[in-house]
Order: sequence, then structure tokens, then C-alpha cells
Amino acid sequence: MIIILLGPPGAGKGTQAKTLSQRLKIVHISTGDILREAIKTNTSLGQEAAKYVERGELVPDNLVTRMARERLSCDDTKEGFILDGFPRNLAQAESLDEFFNSNGLLDYSVIYLETSENTIIKRLTGRRICKSCQAVYHLINAPSNKQGVCDACGGELYQRPDDSEATIKNRLQVYERLTAPVVAYYSHKGKLLHISADNEADKVIAGILKFLKVNDSCEISL
Ligand code: AP5
Repeated sequence: MIIILLGPPGAGKGTQAKTLSQRLKIVHISTGDILREAIKTNTSLGQEAAKYVERGELVPDNLVTRMARERLSCDDTKEGFILDGFPRNLAQAESLDEFFNSNGLLDYSVIYLETSENTIIKRLTGRRICKSCQAVYHLINAPSNKQGVCDACGGELYQRPDDSEATIKNRLQVYERLTAPVVAYYSHKGKLLHISADNEADKVIAGILKFLKVNDSCEISL
């Protein structure tokens, strides 16, 4: 099973992808996570990407597309995968089509998490992430048991530097200009499920699983 999650920053792509990955037992591939890891470990890709990520701009296509193709070619994608944060403009969508076609991957689903701006701002300004295991929390919607400490590993929680209000505004503008056309691209192909992601996370996942015709009441192995 191949799933592409589209949606604005803060729509809940990472949150839904994590649950889907556990339920469907397929790998979750987030280009944002890969880039943040490269920045943290100061690789040459990370050094190049950092200035774009900090400002909420897209990292150049040549870097991201190569990175995505390499990741999609790893053995753990054989049973399927969930793409979160890629493709993010029409050039990336076309490049992904090329990759799918040349690898015989013709069956995939695209899920668009539709979200209001008000929800996005609240979700992103309240998001906190564990420095050690990258678990995602929210100050109000999904707080940790002890403030500032990860429930899973005891690591310190931090706010992503690009979750400041000024950078969120820029990310939203970039999304409208470059990523929103990707939604129309898949809609024209008849591949798109629209789902209201303003709802609680449980309701959103139930809608996605219904669309994918996966029984919500049990774990499945594909
Ligand atoms: P990326 O990491 O992809 O960021 P994004 O698309 O802006 O998305 P987010 O991670 O901010 O949000 P999300 O939708 O995953 O929400 P989440 O589930 O965490 O990219 C970061 C940067 O990397 C980009 O700006 C760019 O520079 C670069 N980049 C990445 N990919 C690229 C590409 N392909 N090309 C070029 N550059 C690229 O949820 C947010 C919060 O809300 C959490 O606290 C969560 O707990 C809470 N929440 C989630 N769902 C719900 C719900 N239903 N109800 C209540 N709370 C909820």
C-alpha cells in the first residue's frame, strides 16, 4: 500500500502517518524529519538545507528529490510506505510520477488533510517535540504527563525553530503558492480523498481507514 499525505503545515500529516504506519505496518517517510536529522548531524545536505528550513522556504528540488528517491529505494519500502511532506510542488510531483512509473508502482492513494488557518496556528504554536526520540506533543491537545519531559523516553521537549509565528506565516504562504497546486494535480488524476483534519485525531484516522477499506477495530498485517 502506498499513501501520499498532503496538507498544510500543522494539518497533522506526521500524527496521522505515525498511526497509519503502526496500523498498516508500512514505513513512514517524512522529508521534513530526514532534513532535520541531516541538519542535526551537520551533513553536507543538512548544511545546505538549514537556511531554507529556518526560513520556512522549500529546500531546492534537486536536493530533496534525490534524497526522496534514495529513501524510497531502501528495502523497507517493499511492503509499501506513507509519504509525508513530499511532493511539495509540481516539479516534485512529476518526479515522483516518473519514479513510480519506472518502478511499476501504479496503485497509490493521496489523502488531503484539509485544515483551517486558525487550527494550523494553534497546532503549530503549541507543538512540542522530544529532543531524543522525536515524539510529538501538543501543550493543550496532547500534553506530556510532566511538563517539558517526554513520556516515552524522559527526553527534553523543545519547540521547532520554524514553529515561531513569523515563520509559520511564511510556511503558509509557501504552501499556498507551491504546494496547493499539487492537490489539484492529484485531484485531476482522480486520486484524491479530501478529509477534514480540523477534527480530533481519532476521527481523522477513522475517515482515512474507511477510505482505505481497512477495518478500524483491529490491526491488520498486509
Ligand atoms: P515538514 O516537517 O514537512 O513540515 P510541515 O509540512 O510544515 O508539516 P509539519 O511537520 O509542521 O506539520 P504536520 O502536518 O506533520 O503536523 P503534526 O502531525 O506534527 O517540513 C519542514 C521544512 O522542511 C519545510 O518548511 C521545508 O523547509 C523542508 N521540507 C520538507 N519537505 C520538503 C520538500 N519535499 N521539498 C522542499 N523542502 C522540504 O501536528 C502538529 C501539532 O498538532 C502536533 O502538536 C500534534 O500533536 C497536533 N495535532 C495533530 N493532529 C491533531 C488533531 N487532529 N487534533 C488536535 N491536535 C492535533
